[in-house]
Amino acid sequence: MEGRQLSEQEILDAKNAAAKLRKKLRTIGMDAFLDYCMKDPSIPRPIMNYFGIILPVGYERLPRDTILRALEIMLIKEMKKRENLPDIKNLSDIAKILANCQNVIVVTGAGISTSLGIPDFRSSDGIYSRLEKYNLSDPQELFDIALFRQDPSIFYDFAKELLPEDRGYSPTHAFIRLLQDRGILLRQYTQNIDDIESSAGIKEDKLLQCHGSFKTASCLTCGNKVPGHSLFHDIRLGTIPKCSICSELQTKLQQKTSRAKRKADSEDDEAVCYGVMKPDITFFGEPLASEFRTQMLQDREVADLLICIGTSLQVAPVAGIPHIMPANVPQLFISRECAGREYVFDLEILGQCDTVVRQLADEAGWLAQFEDIVQRGQKTP
Ligand code: OAD
Repeated sequence: MEGRQLSEQEILDAKNAAAKLRKKLRTIGMDAFLDYCMKDPSIPRPIMNYFGIILPVGYERLPRDTILRALEIMLIKEMKKRENLPDIKNLSDIAKILANCQNVIVVTGAGISTSLGIPDFRSSDGIYSRLEKYNLSDPQELFDIALFRQDPSIFYDFAKELLPEDRGYSPTHAFIRLLQDRGILLRQYTQNIDDIESSAGIKEDKLLQCHGSFKTASCLTCGNKVPGHSLFHDIRLGTIPKCSICSELQTKLQQKTSRAKRKADSEDDEAVCYGVMKPDITFFGEPLASEFRTQMLQDREVADLLICIGTSLQVAPVAGIPHIMPANVPQLFISRECAGREYVFDLEILGQCDTVVRQLADEAGWLAQFEDIVQRGQKTP
């Protein structure tokens, strides 16, 4: 299992093996499990590999006590993970749960919009693969607030690619709308800034846009808030949108200020982002709206199913949602790639999310209603 890239299926198999081992660890206890591991010093390597822990070469030569203590520390982490719920083996089991659910939380990422032609971030053809020309040390810097303040032109050079266009909505958006129509959607927590949820008719009180959206924009200097679409013309041209209030003030000031002073001001760091408008999407280095935490803490108390769709779960705090759900709430993950090993979903289905949710709607006996919503979301070219 070392030395080469594992396929998604192999990772999934390893995770299932890890779940069984974790169960054994919980059942027989730490001491007995360590005895089992150390019966033959070569055994811990594959066991630890299943947990995603790589033991150093030659560890067998270390004193037994040292190995035991090290293994114990690693296994305590495993023991703390949530336990897989029994009887959730396939989509039909999830469909049975859906039939009795009242409060489904859906967490979504860029993967639910890719079938509409909107790229995700971290796939090989995603947004982060197309930023070479900006020489960023990390592609996530495109959304770094410190860099934006230093040089907003980088973001605005690329931002036209991010603008929400009316493309209808995907079958996955339709599935979430179906949950809403059936009265069982507690809330959708979306990381997406494309606002397609609104086109799909997800009600405002059922939707939390965790990373904000292009719906509004604010001035970095005076905080003036404007409708997001008022920036779209500048964004399409690749120019930096400016705040009308600050621009007016600046003109008045400039008329009063000497040339020399103006030169000094323009070299000032603050001057670079003076009056620059920024869409109200959450950049790295900016806090999420306080509403996120408050709402999440309330919702987890009443949730009876968590479905994560089309996200790599790489960005906190949304990535932490599966960890803070009560352990008895079933968790389903649907995406093209496995979730990280730190996650214990009851079911991980790898594939195109539009196909998977259609199967799920079918299993639940809701196919006709689902297709009806899908139909309405198709944009005629
Ligand atoms: P990512 O690009 O990190 O992950 C999207 C995941 O969806 C990937 O694992 C894909 O394999 C998967 N995927 C793509 N298309 C799919 C499809 N049709 N069916 C199923 N799965 C599919 O995007 P996010 O997890 O949303 O932040 O990224 C989280 C945040 O990182 C974003 O909100 C963004 C970014 O930095 C901001 O914009 C501030």
